[in-house]
Amino acid sequence: MGCFLCSVKSKKKQIGKFSAHQISSSVEKFKVNTSLGEKDSSRNGGSGHIAAHTFTFRELAAATKYFRADCLLGEGGFGRVYKGQLERTNQVVAIKQLDRNGLQGNREFLVEVLMLSLLHHPHLVNLIGYCADGDQRLLVYEFMPLGSLEDHLHELSPDKRRLDWNTRMKIAAGAAKGLEYLHDKANPPVIYRDLKCSNILLDEDYNPKLSDFGLAKLGPVGDKTHVSTRVMGTYGYCAPEYAMTGQLTLKFDVYSFGVVLLEIITGRRAIDTSRAAGEQNLVAWARPLFKDRRKFSQMADPELQGQYPVRGLYQALAVAAMCVQEQPNMRPLIADVVTALNYLASQKYNSGTQPVQRHHTGPSTPRTRRDL
Ligand SMILES: Nc1ncnc2c1ncn2[C@@H]1O[C@H](COP(=O)(O)OP(=O)(O)OP(=O)(O)O)[C@@H](O)[C@H]1O
Ligand SMILES: [Mg+2]
Repeated sequence: MGCFLCSVKSKKKQIGKFSAHQISSSVEKFKVNTSLGEKDSSRNGGSGHIAAHTFTFRELAAATKYFRADCLLGEGGFGRVYKGQLERTNQVVAIKQLDRNGLQGNREFLVEVLMLSLLHHPHLVNLIGYCADGDQRLLVYEFMPLGSLEDHLHELSPDKRRLDWNTRMKIAAGAAKGLEYLHDKANPPVIYRDLKCSNILLDEDYNPKLSDFGLAKLGPVGDKTHVSTRVMGTYGYCAPEYAMTGQLTLKFDVYSFGVVLLEIITGRRAIDTSRAAGEQNLVAWARPLFKDRRKFSQMADPELQGQYPVRGLYQALAVAAMCVQEQPNMRPLIADVVTALNYLASQKYNSGTQPVQRHHTGPSTPRTRRDL
């Protein structure tokens, strides 16, 4: 199977001059050439996809009050994300304006538009449209009112409630379902490559949706594996085989999922340079603790204040430990992770009727003010 990103690379110069019309026709061509979509297209009414709208720069500037600072939701490696309201429909949206001087650019923009135009699932963020006016590149997404999982786990502001155990398991199970769709239902499979807390967005009921498909890659068919020439992704979430040899399989995402699950359970960041030397890398810190069940309670996020089910904690840590194994073939399939997490999410913890665990401080450095 041809690799989509490679064919995009060879057309790099052209992409810089892509018009909105060319992008939408390339979505159509891409769909025909790869038949990317759900394995069972009858699930989405047989239509295969819902077309993304094209917007003019003027429309999106008006929607964000000319990119006013108080509409800014956040900033990532691609550029700034603003909250906006579309004049045409009054719909509230999130608008990502790609940094024109950024390292990541047109290729990721095109991959994002292509992937999100063709893939639809309740646990993937919906792309409403895009703008490719002149050298402006903007993406318009459904607005996710509770922001990212990162905001709730690691950058808790006073107006946000800390996540309880049940909500954490609901988020983990939903994110796993989003990945399962990409791995097992999309045809050909999609390797997401950028699973991390900041890319898991939350709706008003804490339902998670995966966002940012600029790095996604169509997976290998049969037993072939990709050997990637560009090592990309985010440090701390990147599977060891990929960092060392560029070998890319669906198990890359399973590793990243294991890191996210560990963050959800422990409240620690994947990489945290404010901690003591042995605790900066979450997986390296967790590995020796996984070997001793008596240490499991030390791994629970102190913010949970002992309000979690002991069995549930053990089982969730066991899933995370399997996902972050060094050998990719030892990691579970995402479908098995979904089964385990669906079960964990169904076992609701009630602090009124179930015991509250004694708080174990364990051998850890204090969290910085930023983390609290
Ligand atoms: N659809 C959305 N609805 C609401 N907020 C969003 C939406 N998309 C992004 N955001 C907010 O904007 C922030 C920046 O997002 P962005 O994807 O640009 O960067 P990031 O994920 O933090 O980092 P990276 O560029 O490395 O992926 C997010 O953390 C989130 O808080
Ligand atoms: Mg992101």
